[in-house]
Amino acid sequence: MTELSAAHDAAVTDRNRLAGSAYSSDRDLAARQALYEWKTPRYDLPGMVAEQLSEVRGRVVDIGCGNGTYVQRLRRDRPDLAVLGLDIAPGILAGVPAPVAVADVTHLPLATASVGAALAMHMLYHVPHIPRAVGELSRVVARDGLLVVSTNSARDKPELDDLWQRAAGDVLGTERGPARISLSARFPLEKASAILGEEFGRVDTIELPGTITVHDPEPVIAHMASCRAWADQHDVPFEATIERARTILVDHIAQHGAFEITCLGGILVCRH
Ligand SMILES: C[S@@+](CC[C@H](N)C(=O)[O-])C[C@H]1O[C@@H](n2cnc3c(N)ncnc32)[C@H](O)[C@@H]1O
Repeated sequence: MTELSAAHDAAVTDRNRLAGSAYSSDRDLAARQALYEWKTPRYDLPGMVAEQLSEVRGRVVDIGCGNGTYVQRLRRDRPDLAVLGLDIAPGILAGVPAPVAVADVTHLPLATASVGAALAMHMLYHVPHIPRAVGELSRVVARDGLLVVSTNSARDKPELDDLWQRAAGDVLGTERGPARISLSARFPLEKASAILGEEFGRVDTIELPGTITVHDPEPVIAHMASCRAWADQHDVPFEATIERARTILVDHIAQHGAFEITCLGGILVCRH
């Protein structure tokens, strides 16, 4: 399992970097989301979340809602629910229909036990003190409510890590370059259940394994480039490494017809 250095850890959680760069718009998040269009099996994550919420009534809050994938789907599929989107990045919220607000998961502007469900999808790894965030999520969820969380496994997309290290090695003139930054390494699927279990009596994990198969390098290159907010964390020129990765991918696809990426993510459904 990849352990982040203290510098990477600080960079992945740095609020100025998150709100001012990584999520100042949805450009980079959308590039990461788009790669899943080539994944099989295709999981309808917002649909799976809506299904988990079938017994929920009243208010639902999506924290770290990003560009509003879940907010918009829940409002469409469950017009009976009052769905609020919260995020620390005002820029990314600009494209999400109201009601939305700027808020931090560790200081939620919500009364105790006031929501039927809370979502924290692919966001807890950006929080400096994850147990504090989980405590705050537990506070706002009603006793009979639920929390839905998602994150990636430490074994997610190893082929992209390998491609990066090969490309970085070529740029630096060494066999393999330094590892790229991993966002979800601070909260991998393998550890998520135990961390959430500190506050929630029951945590059910739904694993989402699959394979991304591309015949064109661009979606992969766009995904790699989407970490440009952390370009300074790579100990190798970022743009040059991306360009070298493109060349390696073009060659690989010409030789094998496709490039495959192994994925493992998961959804955790938590109850008090
Ligand atoms: C990887 S994106 C996930 C977006 C969305 N939940 C999804 O799954 O499509 C992470 C989001 O969490 C937000 N975020 C990061 N730290 C946060 C915090 N402490 N409180 C609230 N939102 C935060 C970021 O601004 C970003 O929009």
